[in-house]
Amino acid sequence: MAFPLLFLLFLSIPFSQSANLSLDYYNKTCPDLDRIIREAVTTKQISNPTTAAGILRAFFHDCVVDGCDASVLISSNSFNKAERDADLNLSLSGDAFDLIVRVKTALELACPGIVSCADILAQATRDLVTMVGGPYYKVLLGRKDGLESKAERVEGNIPRPTMSINQIIKMFMSKGFTVQEMVALTGSHTIGFSHCKEFSDRIFHYNETLPTDPEMYSKFAEALKKTCANYTKDNSMSAFNDVMTPGKFDNMYFQNLQRGLGLLASDHALVKHRKTKPIVDLYASNQTAFFEEFSQAMEKLSVYGVKTDLEGEVRRKCDAFNTLKT
Ligand code: HEM
Ligand SMILES: *[C@@H]1O[C@H](CO)[C@@H](O)[C@H](O)[C@H]1NC(C)=O
Ligand SMILES: *[C@@H]1O[C@H](CO)[C@@H](O)[C@H](O)[C@H]1NC(C)=O
Ligand SMILES: *[C@@H]1O[C@H](CO)[C@@H](O)[C@H](O)[C@H]1NC(C)=O
Ligand SMILES: *[C@@H]1O[C@H](CO)[C@@H](O)[C@H](O)[C@H]1NC(C)=O
Ligand SMILES: *[C@@H]1O[C@H](CO)[C@@H](O)[C@H](O)[C@H]1NC(C)=O
Ligand SMILES: *[C@@H]1O[C@H](CO)[C@@H](O)[C@H](O)[C@H]1NC(C)=O
Repeated sequence: MAFPLLFLLFLSIPFSQSANLSLDYYNKTCPDLDRIIREAVTTKQISNPTTAAGILRAFFHDCVVDGCDASVLISSNSFNKAERDADLNLSLSGDAFDLIVRVKTALELACPGIVSCADILAQATRDLVTMVGGPYYKVLLGRKDGLESKAERVEGNIPRPTMSINQIIKMFMSKGFTVQEMVALTGSHTIGFSHCKEFSDRIFHYNETLPTDPEMYSKFAEALKKTCANYTKDNSMSAFNDVMTPGKFDNMYFQNLQRGLGLLASDHALVKHRKTKPIVDLYASNQTAFFEEFSQAMEKLSVYGVKTDLEGEVRRKCDAFNTLKT
């Protein structure tokens, strides 16, 4: 009887997702890690307040496309079109990539060749969420950087505002996330912004009879129409995801949804669908509940599909594999 049990134990260890990850992974090899990341993050966020949202979104996109392995940081070259340049036009923020370069440079001086870009991305995201008012949660360390980054892996793994709530739920479920976790994570839209083309249908081409979604608060819709009047010519035009407290990580996003102040069609849909509305209402009325569940969901997201040991490497530069791939 003991033999098969032991056999099963041996089998299950190497496949466990957070196998070798720990809080003190770099305690001996890079003892100043926490301070170095925190200082670089603070400096960057103060000079560029959009960094926090940019990196949170980049981290989400990294993780849901084949795991939190820094594959989103890889630059394309003539042999390979990388994740960050997917046709989907992710418009990931340049500040996020710039911050990673800064942190990596500082860490390479203090402890060369030790800290993975995937760990930097995970911990810098946590530090920034906390810095803009969000909860502190634990980030396990020991991820390796992935050996692949392919633009074609993006479509189908990243949710789109045009998707129905059922489709979004299905996408998160396929990665092991519950409806509650999906709603909590999407509370990230309490910071940052969206480009006009991501919500232009809601204000200009709602349906054949109405240009504007009648469920959108009318003054909000009017203001967005002004902001986006030129969006087809000037594609940099954008609006805050949380119009009330755009730079602060709080539960205002959920309160906005209840008042028709949701920006994306998928945001507004969360307060309409019978499976997600009760969760929106809970988070809108209780920020503590939102913060607790967001923290747990972020801890789970942060170890999603991580690579350890020989499944990856510690990159010398975060935007390139150590060996040129042809
Ligand atoms: C429910 C499904 C989701 C959809 C359809 C969605 C879609 C989008 C879109 C279209 C944008 C605007 C991008 C742009 O125009 O630059 C955006 C921004 C953002 N998303 Fe999501 N998202 C979803 C869930 C999430 C989750 C789970 C997270 C984090 C864990 C997240 C974090 C962010 C952040 C922080 C921004 C602002 C980025 C910035 O300001 O640079 N989103 N999202
Ligand atoms: C990771 O864990 C495996 C098995 O548990 C072990 O063989 C390996 O040496 C560990 N690697 C590191 C870097 O700790
Ligand atoms: C070592 O790791 C623990 C967490 O496990 C942490 O509390 C402690 O401060 C770390 N020590 C150093 C020197 O970084
Ligand atoms: C992405 O952006 C480029 C240049 O900004 C544009 O030519 C292309 O049509 C866009 N692709 C999609 C799918 O939106
Ligand atoms: C457009 O939307 C409105 C409000 O939801 C609805 O009453 C109307 O029937 C829709 N028109 C068409 C053509 O679908
Ligand atoms: C729209 O674009 C035109 C020409 O490109 C410019 O003159 C005008 O100021 C723009 N309006 C807004 C609101 O950005
Ligand atoms: C808010 O949520 C927290 C955490 O779930 C809970 O302990 C607290 O009782 C809730 N507060 C109210 C007023 O319901």
